Amino acid sequence: MKKQIAVIRGDGIGPEIVAEALKVLNRVGALYGHDFAYTHVDMGGCAIDKWGEPLPDAMLRKCIASDSVLLGAVGGPKWNDVPGPMRPEKGLLRLRAGMNVYSNNRPAKIWPQLANASPLKPSVVAKGIDFIIVRELTGGIYFGRHETTGQEGQRTATDVLTYSESEIERIGRIGFETARKRRGKLCSVEKSNVLDSSRLWKSVMHRLSAEYPNVELRDMLVDNCAMQIVKDPSQFDVIVTENMFGDILSDEASMITGSIGMIPSSSLGATTCGLYEPIHGSAPDIAGMDIANPIGTILSAAMMLRFSFDMPAEADCIEQAVGLVLDQGLRTPDIFDGTPGCQKIGCREMGDRIAGALCPL
Ligand code: IPM
Ligand code: MG
Repeated sequence: MKKQIAVIRGDGIGPEIVAEALKVLNRVGALYGHDFAYTHVDMGGCAIDKWGEPLPDAMLRKCIASDSVLLGAVGGPKWNDVPGPMRPEKGLLRLRAGMNVYSNNRPAKIWPQLANASPLKPSVVAKGIDFIIVRELTGGIYFGRHETTGQEGQRTATDVLTYSESEIERIGRIGFETARKRRGKLCSVEKSNVLDSSRLWKSVMHRLSAEYPNVELRDMLVDNCAMQIVKDPSQFDVIVTENMFGDILSDEASMITGSIGMIPSSSLGATTCGLYEPIHGSAPDIAGMDIANPIGTILSAAMMLRFSFDMPAEADCIEQAVGLVLDQGLRTPDIFDGTPGCQKIGCREMGDRIAGALCPL
């Protein structure tokens, strides 16, 4: 099968981790007879430097015209003083909105090989960590009006949080559908004791609940959820939440699995053209040092094969290769904890080892 993939290397460690994911995709293509063709797209700080804006129209069009998009990471201190609407992150938000990928799926699952890397007590980890955060991605405070007015010393900054019933309903349905195919438990996370948007969120989730009798719906306030994720993560199957809460909770959820470097994500809308990216940032402090963990990006490529290209065997093959390499004790520094028998390796070698461990199932 021929697939056109838009590739955004981005900033910081982005180019390094994406190179490893492409190495793995090329090997999968060779093993299974697929032709993965890549179109390179500039986005983020590198696009600001080259084109004067974080995501030029032509770049967005390339992404929309592709079969899917694979992204490394964007941003870095070099662009810290760029005005708000021109920041590298704005390119990412514009891409998500332009592709209309409103549903972001972020799995928090512990690899048994990395149980020691979790900062939680072994007795808590032993109960199991395997849940998914379904994050609304194209609405809420990220996309409301942003404004700073007034004179220095007396300025006022405003960020507006808006959700419509239809925006909540479409992500709610993804939450219920995801839970229905798993253990049937959906936790809707909001701040309905304070926010109108959260009260609307909660009421829509309860209306939808009647259509999904096999899914048990539970409401949770976001502050309590942050606590419950570290207290007993085994209680969660699927969490559905709005954009900013999902951003924050997914970093927390990733950390309890050992390293944020391991976690992939998919973002989808009404079509099969999705956006796939690791959930970590551009880590400019370690850029170019060949010590970044490419696994989150490699697993994002696997998600692309599974969810956008209907290639489940190929996706399983990548996930199995990651497992094999972890079984061999190979670790990038972020997941290396000195366990006897484990060996610290760099980003490139991790990519080589995973590509080398691919074996059609
Ligand atoms: C993420 C990131 C982004 C977000 C930033 C870079 C805009 O933190 O994907 O989680 O907040 O969505
Ligand atoms: Mg984030």
